[in-house]
Amino acid sequence: MSEQTLNQAAAKAPEHAELSTSVHSWADGLWERIGQKIERTSRRIGVSCPHASVNGVYDDMRISWWTAGFWPGILWQLSADGKYPELKSIAEQCEERLDEPLHSLAVHHDSGFIWLLSAVANYRITGNERSKERGLMAASQLASRFNLKGRYIRAWHDTASLNRAGWSIIDTMMNLPLLYWASETTKDPRFRHIAAAHAETVLTHFMRPDGSSYHILHFDAETGELLGADAGQGHAENSAWARGSGWTIYGMVLSYQYTGDEAFLIGAKRAAHFFLANLPEDYVPHWDFRAPRNADTPRDTSAGACAACGLIELAGCLPAGEGQMYLEAAVRLVRSMDENYGAWDREDEEGLILSGTSNLPGGVHVDTPLIYGDYFFVEAVSKLRGSERRFW
Ligand code: GLY
Repeated sequence: MSEQTLNQAAAKAPEHAELSTSVHSWADGLWERIGQKIERTSRRIGVSCPHASVNGVYDDMRISWWTAGFWPGILWQLSADGKYPELKSIAEQCEERLDEPLHSLAVHHDSGFIWLLSAVANYRITGNERSKERGLMAASQLASRFNLKGRYIRAWHDTASLNRAGWSIIDTMMNLPLLYWASETTKDPRFRHIAAAHAETVLTHFMRPDGSSYHILHFDAETGELLGADAGQGHAENSAWARGSGWTIYGMVLSYQYTGDEAFLIGAKRAAHFFLANLPEDYVPHWDFRAPRNADTPRDTSAGACAACGLIELAGCLPAGEGQMYLEAAVRLVRSMDENYGAWDREDEEGLILSGTSNLPGGVHVDTPLIYGDYFFVEAVSKLRGSERRFW
């Protein structure tokens, strides 16, 4: 090749991995079907707090449950461009209902899941000042859960018999963006320092050398010393709960995007490699990568959908040549969920995507649509259509 041709090729090479027009048009078609199905479901469930679809019908959980943001999150995803004004109105009413847990301090470390997808989404889209205040209140509560000695964010409150001051869990990776957002919004770096310190603890203690993660770790809340681990929602202490892998991939990418710290990018890649290397033939993960497996072992589409969002973002952080692999893996995942797990043609099913697993050891919602699986699926499809709107 002449130098001129080489220069022309270099000029044309995309900076980041790109999607083909056929992927864009497939995602556009999917977006239409999602909108139709969500509109239909919204007419029945309205302002409520769905967690899982039971026998085809979305339930209504208590408003302080960690999943309370996903329904308004879906509604904001669909209505952000001005379409579906009635969905926007439901999202606003869901946000108002959330003032109750916000003011009663009922919410634990999952305030990111709840208020990023409700109040912060509203603020980002409409500039609503009341929503900004809600987001900042939730961020302050989350920041107050930081344990300085152990450099971790505490997970849940105590129970009558259990002091849980030293418990921290992998899911918190997805709550950190509330803190990063609060620092950007207030121009006060304290929130970001706390989030980054927690993410560093995840790199040091939660992530294993192979890229898998523990679900629950116990620290000594006085000294910060690491004491041990628990299986939590996974099969065993040393197994690899698939949704935990999803939280790690996406959470690490987000920490990298907000801080620019390469260690989080490397963490995201390690988690992604473990996840991708363990996928079955149809690319949709089993609920735990190290649980005993037979033909009936449940999948967890919610883990796949969350991971797909993380993989798309990861691809965007990398040069085109390196990012393409992650982007194509995300497309394979979302395509399989659409073709093999989509509930599009079922009038008797409110969920979008079948075969989520909430908590198999606890016997809670196994092999059924979950609102967070549906949310991350919607977000992934939005990204595959080319949207760069940020919700986390
Ligand atoms: N945050 C709880 C879960 O992933 O099920």
